[in-house]
Amino acid sequence: MTETIKDLIEVTKTKTSKIKNVDFDNLSFGSTFSDHMLVCDYENGEWSVPKIMPYQAISLEPSSKIFHYGQSVFEGLKAYKDAQGDVFLFRPEDNCKRLNISSKRMAIPELPEAYFMEGLKKLLEVDRDWIPSKEGSSLYIRPFIFATGKGFHASPATSYKFIIATAPSGAYFAGKVKVLIEETYSRSANGGVGFAKAGGNYAGQFYPTQLAVKKGYNQVIWTDDTSHEYIEEAGAMNIFVRINDTLMTAPVSDRILDGITRKSIIQIAKDEGFKVEERKISVNELVEAAKNGSLKEMFGAGTAAVVSPISTFGFRDKDYDLPELENTYASKLKKRITDIQTNNASDPFGWRIKV
Ligand code: PLP
Ligand code: COI
Repeated sequence: MTETIKDLIEVTKTKTSKIKNVDFDNLSFGSTFSDHMLVCDYENGEWSVPKIMPYQAISLEPSSKIFHYGQSVFEGLKAYKDAQGDVFLFRPEDNCKRLNISSKRMAIPELPEAYFMEGLKKLLEVDRDWIPSKEGSSLYIRPFIFATGKGFHASPATSYKFIIATAPSGAYFAGKVKVLIEETYSRSANGGVGFAKAGGNYAGQFYPTQLAVKKGYNQVIWTDDTSHEYIEEAGAMNIFVRINDTLMTAPVSDRILDGITRKSIIQIAKDEGFKVEERKISVNELVEAAKNGSLKEMFGAGTAAVVSPISTFGFRDKDYDLPELENTYASKLKKRITDIQTNNASDPFGWRIKV
């Protein structure tokens, strides 16, 4: 039998598991970390075979380029455990592809897909007990790459680290989701890095989001940087709007993250027979629809957010409340996507992978 990458991955197990300290019935999002992590280094022009080791601190020199020039990209996906204890991933190859798309834009070397996929599967074998099975909980998986290479010269590093750390997690949002439509600050620009899942994209959002949080909102909805007339996406999720019976979302561009949940929701919605449009949505249109009652729903879609209905949007010091409807598109779509993810329904699209 030929050796696979998975066979080559060395595993060092922890002597002191932390799992007994975890309350799996009350998980918050991304704040408790599983026992192990996967680590892979890029040196001398190549990625080494990944290793699995106890989750631990890492040491870096102050001159490491991540601290100065922010070369870092990340991904987010989840592992789900069904009632039989079987474990599943949702479209993980798409996360690997997007990680490499983000890396390319940030001048980070491409990671071999087998290191990501086989490494992740092996990590999940080692930390299988950390994958929650309770409805609404899952193991959030955070693969990331950053520049470890040293030097103050403003140029790409020559060494990097790829790590996968995981966190048993519950819902991302604690309650109702209120969003503020932003017209002053921009998250991204044409020709920029908005489509990349680059760490700096998130840092740049924090200040405007802090201002919105002070006003009682959870997230900002970004508008296009040139006119600020069209809604784009939120801080951690893509945005869907239902006006009458049409579901719409902004088209992807070099300013928007090409969300895996977004494209899955579009496909499921079409399969449900909903009318779906990927098109520019103006703030004016949204405000008019809220005023005349044709705005039925708004929701965010993302790995962490899953499908998160929006209760209110704010624009220019005015709040617009969404109606509280029964049998919403959001609830139907959330059920369908989570049933596929958690092996509660058939998977006609071939998205689920058993680990
Ligand atoms: N937009 C942004 C800015 C995000 O951070 C995320 C989360 O990953 C998304 C959209 C949704 O993407 P996905 O569905 O692939 O998780
Ligand atoms: C995800 O949904 O996986 C994300 O990366 C969003 C993150 C900012 C929590």
